Amino acid sequence: MDMKFGQRSDYTFKYNKQLGRHGWLRLTPAYSVKLVKEIIDSVPKDSFILDPFSGTATSGLVAAEHGLSAHCLDINPFLIWLGNAKCRNYSKAELERLKIENDKVLVNCRDIANKDNWIPEIHNITRWWCQHTLKILAALRKALVNQFGEPRADCAENLAWIAFCRLVIETSSAAFNHVSMSFHDKVTTYEIEQIEVLYKKILNAIVESASKDLAGSASVHFEDSREPVLIDGVKYSYVITSPPYPNRISYIRELRPYMYWTKFLDSAKEAGELDWKAIGGTWGVATSRLQDWQSNGLELPKSLKPVVLQILETKEKNALLMANYVWKYFHDMHLHLQNLRKSLKKGAVLSYIVGNSSFYGVPVHTEKLLEDSLKNLGFTNIGSRIIRKRNSKKELFEYCVYATYKENRNYEPQYFSDTRHLGQQLALF
Ligand SMILES: C[S@@+](CC[C@H](N)C(=O)[O-])C[C@H]1O[C@@H](n2cnc3c(N)ncnc32)[C@H](O)[C@@H]1O
Repeated sequence: MDMKFGQRSDYTFKYNKQLGRHGWLRLTPAYSVKLVKEIIDSVPKDSFILDPFSGTATSGLVAAEHGLSAHCLDINPFLIWLGNAKCRNYSKAELERLKIENDKVLVNCRDIANKDNWIPEIHNITRWWCQHTLKILAALRKALVNQFGEPRADCAENLAWIAFCRLVIETSSAAFNHVSMSFHDKVTTYEIEQIEVLYKKILNAIVESASKDLAGSASVHFEDSREPVLIDGVKYSYVITSPPYPNRISYIRELRPYMYWTKFLDSAKEAGELDWKAIGGTWGVATSRLQDWQSNGLELPKSLKPVVLQILETKEKNALLMANYVWKYFHDMHLHLQNLRKSLKKGAVLSYIVGNSSFYGVPVHTEKLLEDSLKNLGFTNIGSRIIRKRNSKKELFEYCVYATYKENRNYEPQYFSDTRHLGQQLALF
């Protein structure tokens, strides 16, 4: 194997686990702090950075740790809440008060442990936790609500809620040895004493890392990155991000245990609706909508059409769905890059970490297709480099696609535009 492009776990979320605030909560498709640091190292200190696909706010937090300013965007309300909690400074007084109030939470938890407290409507919940553990988690949740109220914006109590989320995942049977979250065969039973010890340990570690102030500032905003964005009139000189990849990973699916327990999500229907808003989302209702999706005629790079048609031509059972999936993914990314130009300073530098993929043996070269979008949209200095191999499958890599926002007058745009549904196009073969 070529070591240069090995699997490099230091370039994934695994590396982030031990890193203070970065390790508070995991999102499998989060990118690595190390990678972002390497990019940010070359950024001048007075720069304003944009991350249009914030996720767990890795870019925002690295920027703030390095004394820079950043705005981050996401459409997932839980990630916006988490990102802002990660990027906030906490005063000594706030952290002291939190510790004292947290002791009251644990006393209250014992008092109500035998009551029927609220449990989230997670599908097949006993696959995650046994009834015994669930009862204790539900009591702790209720005690947190009694003391602090539900999670809300901009308060130190959110640290206790983040510790609770971490506890919820650590006591569950969730396994993280795949690209997306799966399950261990068995659930472990926890006693209340064990839960208390674990929760305190997690909260203490979180409070400890929260006590170190951030030199710069970062904030996370609820915005759809396909639309033009203007926050406080800022124009950005660097965009550092990792958008969804066209690999059918659903962030809602990955985040559902946290989102249900914190009431950011109430039902499977709502989960599907949220995933439909996400670029590359295909969970629940998002799948059936994708089946019928048709472009509104947005001009897209010519190189995309043969890829979509090749997937369609495989005539596999879900070929139409997958072809539409790929088409819509690049449609949405193109729309994003098109509107992004309005938020950029002339000369702004873009770094997009993306993965390629493959559908029924048809390779989808994400990096090349995004490069083509950038070319058509008038960016210059466009290219990509391999960051790492994504798994043992030979052809899956992660790339950094880069570009500069400066008008390139030498490139003749190569577009196609089609409003027909792919089902109609099938008849053309
Ligand atoms: C690959 S993740 C980003 C991971 C991030 N780099 C990290 O380290 O945690 C992509 C993110 O894009 C968000 N997203 C998807 N569609 C979006 C849209 N239309 N506008 C804004 N954010 C979107 C998802 O919610 C998800 O959090």
